[in-house]
Amino acid sequence: MEETDTITRLMEKSHQELEELLGKFKSNLLDNFELASEAFEEFKRELEKHLSIEENAIFKFFNPAKDEDYNKVVPDLMKEHDLLLEMLNNVNNDLAVKKDIDISDFEKLLVKHKKFEEEFFYPKMEKDLEDFQRDIVIARIKEGLFS
Ligand SMILES: [Fe+2]
Ligand SMILES: [Fe+2]
Repeated sequence: MEETDTITRLMEKSHQELEELLGKFKSNLLDNFELASEAFEEFKRELEKHLSIEENAIFKFFNPAKDEDYNKVVPDLMKEHDLLLEMLNNVNNDLAVKKDIDISDFEKLLVKHKKFEEEFFYPKMEKDLEDFQRDIVIARIKEGLFS
């Protein structure tokens, strides 16, 4: 039986794919620089796509409760997206000049960010949306992921 698509499941899958690409980059960095660079390019492309899907297809539908904390959730996530992209660009620049690349800060932020989305943000959103809204978001995610 096929699992039903949910926002959480689709985005978790996308996170996993990103993790695999990053793993491919790391594991090739020391002995196959060309393969590592290729993996990095792909990772960068896919991460940019992922963040753009979140911002354009998902976050717009997040309807914060009157609670002040919820009003800050999307702006905070978007700030982290900007930071992640900035850090990634620095890695990209480092790659052009040296081989000993340290991506531990980037990875730490990435893991923290995706954990929050998977464990809190998406499930909450899924619960709060009306069925028809959830269907729209899911359709938009798929459109973005498979384009
Ligand atoms: Fe995100
Ligand atoms: Fe994400």
